[in-house]
Amino acid sequence: MEKKTRLRIILMGPPGSGKGTQATQIAEKLNVQSVSSGELFRDQLGRGTELGFLAQTYMDKGVYVPDDVTIKMVTEWVDSPDHRNGFVLDGFPRTKAQAEALDRELDATGGIDKVIYIRVSQEEIKKRLSGRLLCRRCQAPYHSEYTPPQRPGVCDRCDGKLFQRKDDTPALVAKRIRVYTAETEPVIQYYRQEGKLAEVDGETTIEGVGTALMAALG
Ligand code: AP5
Ligand code: MG
Repeated sequence: MEKKTRLRIILMGPPGSGKGTQATQIAEKLNVQSVSSGELFRDQLGRGTELGFLAQTYMDKGVYVPDDVTIKMVTEWVDSPDHRNGFVLDGFPRTKAQAEALDRELDATGGIDKVIYIRVSQEEIKKRLSGRLLCRRCQAPYHSEYTPPQRPGVCDRCDGKLFQRKDDTPALVAKRIRVYTAETEPVIQYYRQEGKLAEVDGETTIEGVGTALMAALG
């Protein structure tokens, strides 16, 4: 029998749990691409598209963008020929309807292989998001205190300019955590029941979380 090499992975976790940080690193190690649904929306907004402006009205309130538009956007990415050999999804699915739609899309070709839930406490989330900086060009994440760039305001990787996300204010972070608890925790249970879920402690170092993630992927 032909050995299966393709890996389709989902990274789940609350806002600020390190999904973006880890998704790019695992994707590099596995030689596949990763995608963040939040980044796809911010990219659309940066390009001034109708979808971007629609998403902004939800993101600015700390609530989820409606399922129909989100599912269409991410399934188009998943279906692209570039992603046939596997991928890492960061922040999608995050509602039960999104998880079911993804399962329908991938069932015929073997489905999702592994879902990793990065567990982090609310106190840690608040500390991380209040100091988060992102590169406008390559989206690399930094933290003003924990992982500062070598030169203030400039990305170490690509010299891009660093910025703070509009939804990283204390009020919007609190709202995003509430929405996550209500809408996304049931999705964790959904994958647990499917036997695809692995949990990792997200409160060790970035390298420590990365090692635990790779171990969970076997
Ligand atoms: P999105 O952009 O996905 O935001 P999120 O889920 O709230 O998660 P974050 O990106 O804030 O955190 P992260 O887990 O990626 O952490 P990071 O690696 O940056 O979504 C934004 C919005 O888009 C949503 O609110 C919604 O409106 C909409 N949206 C997106 N997807 C959707 C969907 N599927 N359905 C509907 N709507 C959707 O790390 C955070 C910080 O911590 C960084 O500074 C980093 O350097 C630091 N850090 C990371 N790991 C560690 C560590 N181990 N130790 C110390 N510091 C660390
Ligand atoms: Mg992210």
